[in-house]
Amino acid sequence: MSDSDLSRLILDRIRDVPDYPQPGVVFKDITPLLSDPEAFAAVTDAFAGLHEVDKVVGIEARGFILAAPAAYKARAGFVPVRKKGKLPSETLDEAYDLEYGSAVIEVHRDAFAPGDRVLIVDDVLATGGTARATVELVRRAGAEVVAVAVLMELSFLKGRERLTGVELHPLVVV
Ligand code: PRP
Repeated sequence: MSDSDLSRLILDRIRDVPDYPQPGVVFKDITPLLSDPEAFAAVTDAFAGLHEVDKVVGIEARGFILAAPAAYKARAGFVPVRKKGKLPSETLDEAYDLEYGSAVIEVHRDAFAPGDRVLIVDDVLATGGTARATVELVRRAGAEVVAVAVLMELSFLKGRERLTGVELHPLVVV
């Protein structure tokens, strides 16, 4: 599938929900895309085909949905990066600011083998705070970030600027 066909497939299946979760925010709802077998498969294939990696990291919560099938397809392991307090064993944590609010994310200290090559997957790159914090976590855990891949980059929020020096693959840019 060409890049422009993939873009169209994605853009036609992401629903803008105004004033969610707060007034003034337009939420990008990916559930129509996930429920379409052809679109879900095309997105999974696109993420899985980016690089040969040892692990694919998914960022809670919607990143899990995209990263897990990509890891399976790429024959890589899956590693969850979760909101604070959800992982049971010893963790590393990073605080970050969101478009609305702030949060702390964690990864298990032993999630990676030394030097593992890692692809980070999420649904949306907005301000870039979540992705930046995840890059730091993966590096602190001893692995190499090969790239960050997202379904959609919201370019007006300039998240890309927080990922200087990191390869970024948005499947669509709006
Ligand atoms: C959303 C989205 C990304 C992040 C992007 O997640 O899924 O992870 O925000 O924002 P940023 O680039 O400004 O950091 P959210 O924190 O809403 O979590 P959820 O998927 O658990 O709802």
